[in-house]
Amino acid sequence: MAATHPDTRFWDRIARKYSTDPIKDMAGYERSLERMRELLCATDTVLEIGCGTGTTALKLAPSVARIIATDVSSEMIVIAREKAAAEACQNAEFSVADAGHLPGPDGSIDAALALNVLHLTGDRAEVLTGIRRMLKPGGLLITKTPCLAEMNPLLRLAVPVARLFGKAPSVSFFSATDLEAEIAAAGFKTIETARHGSGRKDPRIFIVAAKP
Ligand SMILES: C[S@@+](CC[C@H](N)C(=O)[O-])C[C@H]1O[C@@H](n2cnc3c(N)ncnc32)[C@H](O)[C@@H]1O
Repeated sequence: MAATHPDTRFWDRIARKYSTDPIKDMAGYERSLERMRELLCATDTVLEIGCGTGTTALKLAPSVARIIATDVSSEMIVIAREKAAAEACQNAEFSVADAGHLPGPDGSIDAALALNVLHLTGDRAEVLTGIRRMLKPGGLLITKTPCLAEMNPLLRLAVPVARLFGKAPSVSFFSATDLEAEIAAAGFKTIETARHGSGRKDPRIFIVAAKP
């Protein structure tokens, strides 16, 4: 059996607060949502890793056939299921899974979403390889990822201190160029990159990459 992810308790603890925190850049979020709706098809089976409380999965569910949304935190999944029930959403399923140990069958999904999570998962090569395995040929990886190496350098000091007090998860520092190289090394072909944020300098890269 796979070991429990070290940050599971952190995410469980903050799940209720996370579910009520407002989205900081709503216009940027809407731009990403709109682009994902354009990329996804009504017949698609979609996997989401690190779905949090299911906000995006529930917004995209009407545009696809089925969405299998996963998160390492059982508390996040409890809230996502509550939200799905409140919305009477029939085609979104929520389950606990570590993105490093994806359980689904090979070649079973048309697209995979990794939104605000690849900087948190640790071994990204393992995560990307697992996603590639589950995608059908031609399937899409769609990710929006904060590139912490492009943010305030003081973060490299602040995060370890915050972690001492249980106020931050472990994170990886990489640039958009680093992430694109990792995605290519995992066997994907990047077909689109964008920055959807409203600010002058958006550190979150939106990447669409295909499994050849
Ligand atoms: C910053 S939140 C993003 C949630 C959602 N994707 C969004 O964009 O609002 C990160 C989420 O990733 C989850 N997470 C962190 N590490 C993970 C891992 N190794 N596997 C699966 N989920 C993970 C956390 O539990 C949390 O719900």
